[in-house]
Amino acid sequence: MRLQKRLAEAGIASRRGAVSVIESGRVKVNGQIITEPGFPVNPKDMVTVDDKMIEKEIHVYYLLNKPTGYVTTVKDDKNRKTVMDLFDEVDRSHRIFPVGRLDFDTAGLLLFTNDGDLAYYLTRPEFEVKKTYLARVEGMLTKVAIKTLKTGVVIENNYTTRPAQVRAVEYDKRNMTTLVEIIIHEGKNQQVRQMFDKVGFPVKNLTRVGYADLTLEGVERGSYRPLKIHEVKKLYGEIKK
Ligand code: URA
Repeated sequence: MRLQKRLAEAGIASRRGAVSVIESGRVKVNGQIITEPGFPVNPKDMVTVDDKMIEKEIHVYYLLNKPTGYVTTVKDDKNRKTVMDLFDEVDRSHRIFPVGRLDFDTAGLLLFTNDGDLAYYLTRPEFEVKKTYLARVEGMLTKVAIKTLKTGVVIENNYTTRPAQVRAVEYDKRNMTTLVEIIIHEGKNQQVRQMFDKVGFPVKNLTRVGYADLTLEGVERGSYRPLKIHEVKKLYGEIKK
């Protein structure tokens, strides 16, 4: 294993962060300073950072049902409520962080882990897994709008969204709103809201109900559960596809 990966797995820093820690000369392997991030190490090698031994961190994985009104960040400089406030101290002590983000006003499924590798791959565009949203939009969504959403719309930075699955679940004629299921494989900033804005049906509220094969089943709003081993393996399977 490369030294850089060993540091990331120990939760010292992200893979990229580990490079600068190594290059700054703070890391020793068997007592010798190593400044090469790709330096090969085996499990028996003693690795220290600032002369402190590093241990392999146990990886943990949680599925949270995020309520609206929470910022997706580990620490908010404006002192707003963050998604981390929803975890108890013991679970937080594993140095977990959110995988990707949901807006302040978006509810639903958000994964947390301290496994930098998995998080890195899950959030890279080329591995983007399927994400299912339920959006309540203003107005009666038309067939033309559905077709446009499915094919692709141009959002900020001149980006054309990739093909999506879109289906009107329920038309509420009294309140003039439509409940829509939309499945996308990308994660651009406020993508779903931007897509509906573009076709003229602004989102009133948004919930992520699925991530890969995971759903919110059995997890109440504001609570979370650990992932099962087979669920973690399946996520790893997703990125190898
Ligand atoms: N798309 C959005 O617009 N907001 C989210 O939080 C997630 C996807």
